[in-house]
Amino acid sequence: MKLLQLMFVFFGVSLCEVGNISEDVDLKLERQVKMMNRPPVKTFVTEEGDIIDCIDIDKQPAIDHPLLKNHKIQRKPKLPLSNFSKTSSATKYVQFRSRKPCPIGTVPIQRIKKEDMIRTRSLPKMPSVNMVEIGDAPPSGQHRVFLSHDHTYLIKYGASGYISIYNISTALDQFSSHNIWIETGPPDHISMIVAGWRVDPLLNADGLTRLFTYWTGDGFRDGCYNTFCQGFVQVDRVITPNYPLTPVSTYGGPIYELKIEVSQDIATGNWWLRVHDPPINVGYWSKELFVNLRNGSLHAAWGGVAKESAYGYCPPMGNGHMPDVYTDKAAYFRKVQWMNANGESFHPYKNLPKVVDTPTCYNLLNLKLMRDPWGYLFTFGGPGGYCRA
Ligand SMILES: *[C@@H]1O[C@H](CO)[C@@H](O)[C@H](O)[C@H]1NC(C)=O
Ligand SMILES: *[C@@H]1O[C@H](CO)[C@@H](O)[C@H](O)[C@H]1NC(C)=O
Ligand SMILES: *[C@@H]1O[C@H](CO)[C@@H](O)[C@H](O)[C@H]1NC(C)=O
Ligand SMILES: *[C@@H]1O[C@H](CO)[C@@H](O)[C@H](O)[C@H]1NC(C)=O
Repeated sequence: MKLLQLMFVFFGVSLCEVGNISEDVDLKLERQVKMMNRPPVKTFVTEEGDIIDCIDIDKQPAIDHPLLKNHKIQRKPKLPLSNFSKTSSATKYVQFRSRKPCPIGTVPIQRIKKEDMIRTRSLPKMPSVNMVEIGDAPPSGQHRVFLSHDHTYLIKYGASGYISIYNISTALDQFSSHNIWIETGPPDHISMIVAGWRVDPLLNADGLTRLFTYWTGDGFRDGCYNTFCQGFVQVDRVITPNYPLTPVSTYGGPIYELKIEVSQDIATGNWWLRVHDPPINVGYWSKELFVNLRNGSLHAAWGGVAKESAYGYCPPMGNGHMPDVYTDKAAYFRKVQWMNANGESFHPYKNLPKVVDTPTCYNLLNLKLMRDPWGYLFTFGGPGGYCRA
């Protein structure tokens, strides 16, 4: 708690610095904030200090997106029930449902304030995994490690995996992200959905380990993190895209996992965010938002992204340790799978190409196909440190 208070003091200072914005921008942000916030049926403040508005599901900000005119909200996906996966004996799932649900017919929406808009303006966009192909450097001091399923003759209608969760600490201008990617299209018009867990003081105004999402429909011209813009349709009455994750794992165990899945409902084309096992349907991105994800995806990837601070110092990724053959000594992704048009799940080919931008700071160890409950497994992460060398 002390750490949090300290961070807020720092925020007060840094906000003054980034808060020096022109009147035009100020007005624009004010208008945006007004559009994002609706008259709530009920409001509550969570243990972590998040303000949650319970909004009529049919009046949530998402559906004001110009591409969602006449959109009819889908209450439930037609996705196959994935089979419950046994965990190993020392592993448990992170807990959900600890918050009170919004009243029936309403959904929880994170209250967005102008300070949040100002703070998150300096967050870089999520890097794509495709940029490797054209030899681009990762943008804005972001360092990536990932495995990418790039066989384009196999159309992916979803990707999933179980990630171990940690509460690493980062500086105020760093973040550390552990996620799956779904993406298709040339860099200029790329469509992308990213989801996983993350420690990110700029995004969340705290140092907690939280769920997060990111999307763009058309080459970063649109989209945002979580619900910082219209687009993501919230359906679950408890879990929001910025939901705090507890308990967290400790080095050497016990280990807590997040099951994360992004998959397309063929009937509607909506891309659903599902967490936990058996899955909880959090919400979805409508296919209209994407120029290149209307009918499946060419790429799916699993890994991490860490952003360096202004002076080139990088935060820890994973649990702050380099990859290890022991799954309680480094962060991992297990039971990595992708889905075909019929909703059947497959593990990727054994020799997925590994991409590691900065091996002195972070790495990835592909342990490939293991016996149950591990499935397709890799460990990843690292201590960070000075990463420009
Ligand atoms: C903020 O903007 C004003 C006017 O544009 C300028 O005079 C001032 O130096 C700026 N302050 C900071 C901290 O950048
Ligand atoms: C779930 O398990 C059953 C029986 O083992 C199998 O037939 C089915 O294909 C599995 N479903 C998925 C989605 O993997
Ligand atoms: C992580 O969690 C442990 C146990 O709950 C706590 O003692 C520690 O301060 C936390 N660290 C961070 C960086 O949040
Ligand atoms: C999606 O693609 C598949 C395979 O290419 C095709 O059979 C199907 O008709 C397409 N669906 C839509 C809605 O375009």
